[in-house]
Amino acid sequence: MEEPQITSPHVLLFPAPAQGHINVMLKLAELLSLSSVRVTFLTTEHSYRQLTLHSDVLHRFSLFPSFQFRTISDGLPVSHPRTFSCHLPEMLHSFVSVTKPLFRDMLVSHHFSSDLSCLILDGFFSYLLDIDDDFVKVPIFCFRTFGACSTWTILSIPNLIKQGQLPIKGEEDMDRILDNVPGMENLLRCRDLPGFCRPTDPNNDPILQFIVSAFIRSTKFNALIMNTFEDLEGPILSNIRTLCPNLYSIGPLHALLKTKLSHETESLNNLWEVDRSCLTWLDNQPAGSVIYVSFGSITVMGNRELMEFWHGLVNSGRNFLWVIRPDLVKGKNGEIEIPAELEEGTKQRGYMVGWTPQEKVLCHEAVGGFLTHSGWNSTLESIVAGKPMICWPFGFDQQVNSRFVSNMWNLGLDMKDLCDRETVAKMVNDVMVNRKEEFVRSATEIANLARRSVKPGGSSYANFDRLIEDIRNLSRKKTAVNN
Ligand code: UDX
Repeated sequence: MEEPQITSPHVLLFPAPAQGHINVMLKLAELLSLSSVRVTFLTTEHSYRQLTLHSDVLHRFSLFPSFQFRTISDGLPVSHPRTFSCHLPEMLHSFVSVTKPLFRDMLVSHHFSSDLSCLILDGFFSYLLDIDDDFVKVPIFCFRTFGACSTWTILSIPNLIKQGQLPIKGEEDMDRILDNVPGMENLLRCRDLPGFCRPTDPNNDPILQFIVSAFIRSTKFNALIMNTFEDLEGPILSNIRTLCPNLYSIGPLHALLKTKLSHETESLNNLWEVDRSCLTWLDNQPAGSVIYVSFGSITVMGNRELMEFWHGLVNSGRNFLWVIRPDLVKGKNGEIEIPAELEEGTKQRGYMVGWTPQEKVLCHEAVGGFLTHSGWNSTLESIVAGKPMICWPFGFDQQVNSRFVSNMWNLGLDMKDLCDRETVAKMVNDVMVNRKEEFVRSATEIANLARRSVKPGGSSYANFDRLIEDIRNLSRKKTAVNN
């Protein structure tokens, strides 16, 4: 690694304050730093506290002397739970009314220094700036944490409304196929649309309008960076390129980072404390025998759903490792009475933890399948590890992702909208035993494509090099103008 010079490009990264966004944008920050780009990573005060408490980021990034963290207020009181799934309208309001003006002031006053080459803004935050805001002074690249499949679906919503295919009516057949989403013919049903499309009147739903316009806006910046790869989503990326031709598909980013690092490291960027005892438990299980269960960082469920999953997992007769985040279950979690058969079944075949080193867990040979909420990071991590999935999407992009996992890539089963113990037990056995060969075959094929894409000669590897070269050119141009 070359030591960055004062004339090296300087990039500001600003992710949304959520685990799935910070994790992947820190991986991008690490990749940029390894390419001798100076990085300033802006995050909310709350995320910074959680991150530095539960991960080794400060130590890891101390290898890059020119890397710096900067913080900004999210406008919420310290005690606020900040659960995106429960408090989205309130959090959006705070980002718009507090974070937005603060961020704009920081840019106007050159808070990050006047030598910025470009800004890489999380697509979730695209409403913080406008392409013609003349105080920004540097090109804005938008980073999307969603896959191309969900991004393109959301970008197609205005057309679906125009064509009368949306809104979804109250008593509608949720299996109705949506025509005319280019590249997704005969694939998407109403139930595969993001959760926020389900209101009966999309023309008047403020969250839907907000999200769709933020997506459209993010295609209008100077470039779009996506955590996906051409062999997985090439045809859909071509559709997105009709709106934003300068698109860099550089994923799976966690795998690209592994290629670029010369030493073995985990690059953990957790907002929760990791319990590594699960790795020791996995070491003692037979190969391919464990179903790993995790619903990501923002899913919440009620006691009923918790009990259905729990019974289903125990009744499946398979070994399971289950992540129960401290805030996974809403309501009276502490007061549940746990039936004796669940206690016994869990003692014999299960292990529960609050947070795992997930990438490592998925690559463990004891893990034979993944019961997931279909967050995009989890989907890519499972793809790279070559593990079949059972999908129980919760919201946002996850309904689309799970449809692609099951019906486009044949990587597993989509449990969508069902949550009962019989379905859970049956799907676990289908993925782990009855249809194992079929799913493992496609998972292995796609894992090979993913790994190839991040190696020299692969599409993501080449696109990342192009991104770096384009950033260097921006920096050279700026230096030439200033001289
Ligand atoms: C949401 C969206 O659905 C996702 O598509 C978007 O890109 C980010 O926000 P989230 O619930 O955060 O998703 O899930 P996911 O994208 O899968 O990210 C979760 C991350 O947490 C993954 O990188 C996963 O490895 C990590 N994780 C999860 C752990 O490290 N340990 C755990 O125990 C659980």
